[in-house]
Amino acid sequence: MKIAISSDHGGNNLRREIIELLAEKGLEYEDLGPKDDESVDYPDYAKPVADGVASGNFDRGILICGTGIGMSIAANKVKGIRCALVHDVFSAKATREHNDTNVLAMGERVIGPGLAREIVSTWLSTPFSGGRHERRIEKLIELEG
Ligand code: RB5
Repeated sequence: MKIAISSDHGGNNLRREIIELLAEKGLEYEDLGPKDDESVDYPDYAKPVADGVASGNFDRGILICGTGIGMSIAANKVKGIRCALVHDVFSAKATREHNDTNVLAMGERVIGPGLAREIVSTWLSTPFSGGRHERRIEKLIELEG
């Protein structure tokens, strides 16, 4: 599994923490920035991750900003992206099983690093359930036009 990760300035610390986790797990990842702590605009950093997942260059994406909200809005504007904003482990599991999400958004100002690690681990390891959820995903794809 190849993972793309980025943040804005509000998510830099949590991004570094999650990169450590991905490295500990031996997962293949690409850090798409930002390179320093200067203030940046979250759509500029959501786009390369979302485009990379939508094009198939990456299997999954992880986006972090202060709240996770801006990143999730931006990612969901890219065709082929199903991004979930998640701040609890139950939703991390459910959104993989039910929504087959390919991008995860989190807010560094909302949760701590321990919970974020649990969320990422759960989200990465939970398979899509398929079945009745397949039909719903197809309807989501129809909405994209
Ligand atoms: C940046 O201050 C903040 O607005 C951003 O990180 C994010 O929370 C936006 O949704």
